[in-house]
Amino acid sequence: MSPIAEYLNGQKARFESDLCDWLRMASVSTDPAFRPEVERAANWLADRFCGLKLNTRIIPTAGHPIVYAESPPVSGAPTVLVYGHYDVQPPDPLNEWITPPFEPTVREGKLFARGATDDKGQMLTHLFGAEAWLKTKGQLPVQLKFLIEGEEECGSLGLNEFLAGKYDSALGQAALDLIAADIVVISDSSQYGPGQPAVTYGLRGICYYELRLTGPRQDLHSGAFGGAVTNPANALCQMLSAFRDSAGRIQVPGFYDDVLPLTPAERQQFSDLKFDDAAFMAGLGVQALTGEEGYSTLERRWARPTFDINGLWSGYQGEGAKTVLPARAGAKFSFRLVPNQDPKKIAQRLEAWLREICPPGIELELVDMHSAPGSIVPLDSPYMAAAGKAIARGFGRSPVFIRSGGSIPVVNTFAQKLGIGTLLLGWGQDDDNPHSPNEKFLLADFHRGIASSASLWDELGQLRTSTI
Ligand code: BES
Ligand code: ZN
Repeated sequence: MSPIAEYLNGQKARFESDLCDWLRMASVSTDPAFRPEVERAANWLADRFCGLKLNTRIIPTAGHPIVYAESPPVSGAPTVLVYGHYDVQPPDPLNEWITPPFEPTVREGKLFARGATDDKGQMLTHLFGAEAWLKTKGQLPVQLKFLIEGEEECGSLGLNEFLAGKYDSALGQAALDLIAADIVVISDSSQYGPGQPAVTYGLRGICYYELRLTGPRQDLHSGAFGGAVTNPANALCQMLSAFRDSAGRIQVPGFYDDVLPLTPAERQQFSDLKFDDAAFMAGLGVQALTGEEGYSTLERRWARPTFDINGLWSGYQGEGAKTVLPARAGAKFSFRLVPNQDPKKIAQRLEAWLREICPPGIELELVDMHSAPGSIVPLDSPYMAAAGKAIARGFGRSPVFIRSGGSIPVVNTFAQKLGIGTLLLGWGQDDDNPHSPNEKFLLADFHRGIASSASLWDELGQLRTSTI
């Protein structure tokens, strides 16, 4: 066994207990009530980097801090920017967790906690992959730059400002110079399935909105006023149901203008993956799947745009019945976009269309919460080949190439501002429940991810930047 493999074997229990320590910190970024916990999680991570003697800084932002750490440059070898996030989604609904979200618990080889897979567990694999090199060889074969943010789950305000240069004077240098690299590595997605690792080459984008409708000055008796006064809850339902036709096509004018159709070759690649709809339905507890007509489940999830309502409110929610005509109604909703769709264009068209279809007697307010375009990364690079070899070693099986329906907004920013590609190396499983109750991470995947990471530094270290 190589000294690195031996080191990793010897540290398994400690890697797990470190991850558990971090998972106990409730770093929910979207809710200000959790601010101290978010800060604790940032400090914990910075302490780990310092412990490895990496040059570490905590960069305060208008939102949550960014944790940045780097190892020394390695002449001739690539510089690798590792991106991840230490923030997590809210744990709600709390009563659906078998064990509490911030009390990490192992059951049947799976570690249950909010953030286990998304993204604390996956992110830490790269820190431990680096640790194995530093502790056994005293140095890394590539320069690593870790850029770990605390607002990925709520729009990356601080990171976007950082990348736009807002903190350059505080940093004493341009942020883009600080993080300059040859390739980005992100583990914040999933494998294709159990026993089948994957490299993700496409992500969807997103546009997220809140729609607020206001009718009469205050709630009214629905008998005395109903039928003559526009009910904002009725108006909301009418408007939201106009978003898609019966074939699942989004009705916002111009919505599909910039959508790149799937090529026959890519459709074939998807179909070669032999996705099992029946097993998928059984895993989710549903009796049927629906979506845009003419597309398979993988096409719908990975490469077609969607509309989903994420939250909905109005009227009486308490026990019993109340005959009320509510004065207000609202919804949170989002589109997933495919690469080449422009969130700004979508936002303009959406607002104009909503104003057109809004029934009389209703005031409409549309809040643009956040947005990001989708991305496709090149498959034919030496970096991609290196990732394939590293994963084959760590997982004992070569990866397949997949797209994914989730969004990692910064991937597009890295391509635009640094002109570099990203390796999306997901160690999770589709049923790891990110953003849902009982989020988990298979401990075997955690350790295979660490082994793959340690191999990745090796493989990337063998590339000469002068010949790429
Ligand atoms: N890890 C996910 C992204 C992801 C999920 C990629 C599944 C591939 C497969 C990430 O943390 C995430 O949830 N991103 C948000 C971004 C949004 C808040 C801008 C998402 O996709 O909802
Ligand atoms: Zn997430």
